[in-house]
Amino acid sequence: MKNIVITGGSKGLGVEQVRRFLEAGSKVYVVANMRGDLDEIDGDVVYKETDLSNWSDTSWLEEIHAECGHIDGLVNNAGMHLKKAMWDVEPAELDLVLNINVKAMFAACGALVRLQKDSGGGAIVNISSMGGLMGLQTAAAYVTAKTAVLGITRSMAVDAAPFGFRTNAVCPGFIDTDMTRAILEKDPARRVKIEGRIPGGKFGTARNVANAIHFLISDEAEHINGVALPVDNGFSIGF
Ligand SMILES: NC(=O)c1ccc[n+]([C@@H]2O[C@H](COP(=O)([O-])OP(=O)(O)OC[C@H]3O[C@@H](n4cnc5c(N)ncnc54)[C@H](O)[C@@H]3O)[C@@H](O)[C@H]2O)c1
Repeated sequence: MKNIVITGGSKGLGVEQVRRFLEAGSKVYVVANMRGDLDEIDGDVVYKETDLSNWSDTSWLEEIHAECGHIDGLVNNAGMHLKKAMWDVEPAELDLVLNINVKAMFAACGALVRLQKDSGGGAIVNISSMGGLMGLQTAAAYVTAKTAVLGITRSMAVDAAPFGFRTNAVCPGFIDTDMTRAILEKDPARRVKIEGRIPGGKFGTARNVANAIHFLISDEAEHINGVALPVDNGFSIGF
């Protein structure tokens, strides 16, 4: 049985990751600032309420490590979006987006290396976005953050590999979640326009993303380190 930590595993894409790892027989630790949809989950899940905007505090990871002995997989999934052009972003908003999406991930990666560099390492998946691969309109802080996620991933991939760590990123494209459904139900024409831009012609599912993450954490991906894997049905390669 593998011990898997998923930040932001209580809502949206994260809760589907929890289901995917439970199906594979893992024990799952969820680190988030709300229980969200976790009560719907039946399985071996431990919930740790944590505000990751206090980014330098990695005591949650140290506590989990002490509890389980070895963390086999860490999915840095917690994140927040900010729909604003660069010139409208307030300093406090930029701080919050970077603290949650970037600095908390940076700190967690470093903390896991310190905890496990003498005990075989581990596998990490950092959640970026198509916004890490290309510009998105009115999402300057988010695009900045998701691009930085790829910098963290590559730095970890080269620095921590000698200690047995593999670090990869997943870049989800347009995914059918409650959030995207709520936005696009009010604007069905936009949904049709986006689908016309996706080479594969349709939005992805949370399960599509969870499957990619599960693969990258698994031993089947033992020779994969430092990639940014788009899960976007071809959106980021152009049309
Ligand atoms: N939904 C999409 O279509 C999509 C597309 C590309 C990338 N992503 C990325 O995937 C990840 C998950 O997105 P989602 O849509 O499922 O998000 P969501 O808003 O549905 O859930 C966010 C999760 O992060 C946690 N979280 C947020 N702020 C936190 C904080 N300060 N402290 C601790 N936990 C916090 C929440 O508790 C929740 O569990 C994010 O990194 C997001 O940027 C999502």
